Amino acid sequence: MYSEKVMDHFQNPRNVGEIENASGVGTVGNAKCGDIMRIYLDIDENQIIRDCKFKTFGCGAAVATSSMATELVKGKNIQEALQITNKAVMEALDGLPPVKVHCSLLAEEAIHAALWDYAEKNGIKIEGLTKPK
Ligand code: FES
Ligand code: FES
Repeated sequence: MYSEKVMDHFQNPRNVGEIENASGVGTVGNAKCGDIMRIYLDIDENQIIRDCKFKTFGCGAAVATSSMATELVKGKNIQEALQITNKAVMEALDGLPPVKVHCSLLAEEAIHAALWDYAEKNGIKIEGLTKPK
């Protein structure tokens, strides 16, 4: 049912934890199942994402997609990070079962929420980013 990559990221999730004094923090809930995810971003003065960590109260697919999403986001600039969709994360994991696709939305939404928080804290506007629900 799950790809080897999904199982790997579920069993050994990368970047679990918190970042103290993070540049941006985003917390989102999944309307479909009630699971919750928080993502922390450390963004440097050139708007490069230096570090990214996550915590989730969620299912295995949510853990695996968050783990992969944090790996993809690290080292990217803000505009590149915005392009990391749940579809891109799923592709990087060699796919998810259809009933688990909604789980992958948490990571994308949490990254967007954390970027929004960063923009608000710094009084800037990020092109292409809309206010999280
Ligand atoms: Fe049970 Fe997500 S709803 S783990
Ligand atoms: Fe809720 Fe996966 S079942 S995030």
